[in-house]
Amino acid sequence: MKKFVEILPDKLALTQRSLELLLTKINTAIEQRGQCTIALAGGNTPKPIYEALVNQSLPWQQIQVFWGDERYVAPDHPDSNQKMARQAWLEKVDIPATNIHPMPTAAKNPQLDAQNHEQELRQYFKISEADFPIFDLILLGMGDDGHTASLFPYTEALAVQDSWVTVGNKDGQPRLTFTVPLINHARCVIFVVAGENKRPALKQVFATEADEQNYPSRLIQPQGELWWLLDSAAGVEIKEQISS
Ligand code: 6PG
Repeated sequence: MKKFVEILPDKLALTQRSLELLLTKINTAIEQRGQCTIALAGGNTPKPIYEALVNQSLPWQQIQVFWGDERYVAPDHPDSNQKMARQAWLEKVDIPATNIHPMPTAAKNPQLDAQNHEQELRQYFKISEADFPIFDLILLGMGDDGHTASLFPYTEALAVQDSWVTVGNKDGQPRLTFTVPLINHARCVIFVVAGENKRPALKQVFATEADEQNYPSRLIQPQGELWWLLDSAAGVEIKEQISS
């Protein structure tokens, strides 16, 4: 794993740098493999990045869009990560509908929907045996508790090693999430983290020693590249940690 950490002066610079890095990685994937498989983060931080992608001239037919996690709500629910990305970006570009692979939430059974999505992914990546696909890009956020995707502290999802998709749990609310091994098989994982409220968790995530169960973002150690793009509000206290 190659790790990169950049602290940008403010949220706008963070968005611009995140867009720049995403474009580089998307274009490299397409040049090298003819397509780019990207899994999106939910929450608020990535929304301006998705909005900025609208104005980019990209070969949308060669971009396959997935989500790293999803709230267990209908696609038109205000909390839906799918809804946010479609409204901010996907509805505004000529990407084929078949290139968009949302996590299903219609079965009224999160475990069944997780299994269904894993089957969809296995069909897409043409992997049936006990192996993992290699996403070109997985975009992640981090909560102020150190969670990422829907891998929350001290939850069963953290220990799942034999599935690609599992059920996350946020305060009793079910979510669907990529598992740690699926994320860690990626060619490139990019965390985009902003805001002073993330500072304490970031210190623990970057600490030499800390409880991974308590700070699940520590579990993300991809075989490829790991990027942390932070604004200074989030990252100011870890400057000495990353320079050492
Ligand atoms: C979600 C995300 C989640 C998010 C973090 C940070 O479904 O909410 O996948 O992991 O990235 O909670 O959220 P913010 O960007 O809103 O701070």
